[in-house]
Amino acid sequence: MVGSSLVKILKESGYSNLILPKRRDLDLKNQRKIEEFFSEEKPEYIFHLAAVVGGIHANSNYPAKFIYDNTQMHLNVIECANKFEIKKLLFPGSACTYPKLAKQPIAEESFLSGFLESTNIAYAAAKINGIITAQSYCKQFGLNVVIPMPTNAYGIGDHFDAENSHVIPALIRRFNDAKLKNDNEIVIWGSGNVIREFIYVDDLAYSLLFLMLNYDSSNIINVGTMVEISIKDLALKIAKIVDYKGEIKFDVSKPDGVLRKCLDSSKIKQMGWKDKVDLDQGLEKTYNHYLTLQNVK
Ligand SMILES: NC(=O)c1ccc[n+]([C@@H]2O[C@H](COP(=O)([O-])OP(=O)(O)OC[C@H]3O[C@@H](n4cnc5c(N)ncnc54)[C@H](OP(=O)(O)O)[C@@H]3O)[C@@H](O)[C@H]2O)c1
Repeated sequence: MVGSSLVKILKESGYSNLILPKRRDLDLKNQRKIEEFFSEEKPEYIFHLAAVVGGIHANSNYPAKFIYDNTQMHLNVIECANKFEIKKLLFPGSACTYPKLAKQPIAEESFLSGFLESTNIAYAAAKINGIITAQSYCKQFGLNVVIPMPTNAYGIGDHFDAENSHVIPALIRRFNDAKLKNDNEIVIWGSGNVIREFIYVDDLAYSLLFLMLNYDSSNIINVGTMVEISIKDLALKIAKIVDYKGEIKFDVSKPDGVLRKCLDSSKIKQMGWKDKVDLDQGLEKTYNHYLTLQNVK
């Protein structure tokens, strides 16, 4: 999702010398293949956006895959980036690496200051390993790294799997399916009271290019909108956009995750980056994209 949006933005911004390996040609878990790739292609700037990502359900069911694949991929990429002396590497962290009880909105200084939320600990542990690995290569070898900490992203290119995807695409799919089947009830995991922040994918992708060009520090930097919404209100918004008229119930026996999660993104905003797509616009675009995918199938 983020990579496709970034490629679109890079092309629109006039960058033409892009190297875009597909997973079928370059499995990033394979160190030898990555070495061959670096040796042949000689990349200068790297956005390492490949990862195994997903919502609470996927995190609960596949923790070993989340930690193994993600750790293996970033260790391989960072090691080769250093070995082949690339100019700059961008490795995204994630809001979920911050402590469960971090002071809100979460400033960069909260990193590693407390216990993590357990529902996605394997993914978060891999990301923390990646952040510290990138910073260690910077410290020991002078590798130029930039480490944005994005809040929850959504938008075109997202995964719309009903169970394994993030909350926005999962709700879009479930509400749309319920509307088509005339179901009069949808049950959502958790209380609906938790508060989250979301960023439209193009805004996140712009921030990555912005940081690659303007940020020269291995210190993590938050990327978010600082606009918050409860899952209940989000569900109501999506139901309205999809035109689902049935009942929405919340299953409080299922985990909620962290109660409130909003990043303090004042640092990047002071540098001049700003998000442009508000949640209503972003949800409309995402739903239209989902409908397009359905028609294609
Ligand atoms: N989405 C968010 O809310 C969010 C928030 C914070 C940070 N981030 C970070 O932003 C980055 C991009 O996330 P995203 O949402 O764009 O994820 P995404 O849509 O799932 O894209 C991840 C990509 O990684 C590729 N990939 C997975 N395993 C691979 C492997 N072994 N070798 C090569 N490629 C592999 C996938 O290929 P296939 O298509 O073949 O599976 C996919 O194209 C990730 O680092 C993620 O942790 C995302």
